[in-house]
Amino acid sequence: MLSYMKSNPKLYFLAILIGLPFGLLAQATNRGKVIINADLGKDTISRHIYGHFSEHLGRCIYDGFYVGENNAKIPNTKGVRNDVVKALKELKIPNLRWPGGCFADTYHWKDGIGPKSERPSIVNTWWGGVTEDNSFGTHDFLDMCELLGAEPYLSANVGSGTVQEVADWIQYTNHNGKSPMADLRRKNGRQEPWNVRYWGVGNEAWGCGGHMKPEYYANIYRQYATFMSGWTNTGRIVRIASGASSGDYNWTEVLMRDIPHNMMDGVALHHYSVIDWNAKGSATQFSEEQYFTTMKRALEMETLVQRHITIMDKYDPRKRVSLVVDEWGGWYDVEPGTNPGFLYQQNTMRDAMIAATTLNTFNNHCDRVKMANLAQTINVLQAVILTQEDKMLLTPTYHTMKLFNVHQDAVMLPSTVQNCDYVLGNEKLPALSASASRDKNGAVHVSLANIDSKEPKIVTLEFRGMAVVSAEAQVLRSPNLQDYNSFESPNKIQPAPFRQIKKSGSSVEVEIPPFSVVVVEVK
Ligand code: AHR
Repeated sequence: MLSYMKSNPKLYFLAILIGLPFGLLAQATNRGKVIINADLGKDTISRHIYGHFSEHLGRCIYDGFYVGENNAKIPNTKGVRNDVVKALKELKIPNLRWPGGCFADTYHWKDGIGPKSERPSIVNTWWGGVTEDNSFGTHDFLDMCELLGAEPYLSANVGSGTVQEVADWIQYTNHNGKSPMADLRRKNGRQEPWNVRYWGVGNEAWGCGGHMKPEYYANIYRQYATFMSGWTNTGRIVRIASGASSGDYNWTEVLMRDIPHNMMDGVALHHYSVIDWNAKGSATQFSEEQYFTTMKRALEMETLVQRHITIMDKYDPRKRVSLVVDEWGGWYDVEPGTNPGFLYQQNTMRDAMIAATTLNTFNNHCDRVKMANLAQTINVLQAVILTQEDKMLLTPTYHTMKLFNVHQDAVMLPSTVQNCDYVLGNEKLPALSASASRDKNGAVHVSLANIDSKEPKIVTLEFRGMAVVSAEAQVLRSPNLQDYNSFESPNKIQPAPFRQIKKSGSSVEVEIPPFSVVVVEVK
């Protein structure tokens, strides 16, 4: 065909005239730029943005973290799986939220202390109606956090507990002197307090935590917070109010207006990337339309964070109160044949895209977002780890979070993205997401995601205010969006060195493959 056209100069010229603009257009839509202001960094990305969440739900605690002290088959330390501890330490897990979730507002902590054989059983009414024998309790969790090098974040029971119960829990975990609860702790084998800093005052108070109205919860919060103070040797505790669901801006408005800010250090926010609560779809067998909708939901996090922050700024311009996104992630139908109440789902490259775009949003708003918790760590929702008896695998979400952990406690470098589109039918989404930071050794990291399911994107990283001497990168990608790590093939998806980058002067050009994550290190 081409040779025929070439032999016919008129036709060849016409083809070039028509083809050129289309070619240029295609090129233009697949090109983007990220301008990194390397000399304008002032806010630190708290490592706590990279936090996790573990609820007594399905196989997160039991089978996931904890397999019992007498388990001879799975290597463990005081019942906690050694393989899980190693993987989470490598992830640099900064904090872990526990015991819920909805479960937290049914949990009475005194059921979970003392000799295990004497602990009472309860029914886990929220999650599968299973019997909870309380064999994993306060000591087990806080000792495990020490093993992980993670700070504990305890969710206190407001929905069905009492103020006294919460006050006692703080005294039990944090008081160093002589007191009834500190003495009980010592009797149960722990001399030194754990000094737990982070305390959630209930969970989803608008829903499973009591179906409260915001004004009512604000009053309840004030009552609880009054008795949730002191007892720590390391300064004040951090009290976090149960926050809004996604776009419930009135919830944040009322809390910020009605709760004195010296009683509240954080306001939470929960947002899940779900297609439709009545038809969530399979975690692994999904269409491009379903992927597109999931990403639309995930990218809403940017708008949600911006709008909740705008409300917070109105009442707290000095940004004393943090926004704590203590539940986020993708939510699909459970894997076929598993208990619907256990929320066990696989994890594909779609989840890597959710993680990368969400973490970039949190990084870019680190002056207000000081903490976040992915739901949930093991075997539940968008897990970083899946277990099957003595086997364990790391999901694409784990690898994304690990690539991103270079941002922990680094100085955020403000960046602007000249974006290009991910087009599906008549709809489009911004294809690129980015954030940048400088670590304590001076290295600059730029984390990028291209959510386009088909097109690679050529992105110019333009560094202002620094000389670029060297650039190298790592990538997380896979041939198919629906790919995942299975117990048969646990290393199918894992990060690899990335060569499609080119340095030129103070710029670096990166060709990001479709649905992939790239983290560039520049020195
Ligand atoms: O993460 C699962 C559940 O989702 C939590 O228990 C609850 O807080 C939320 O609705």
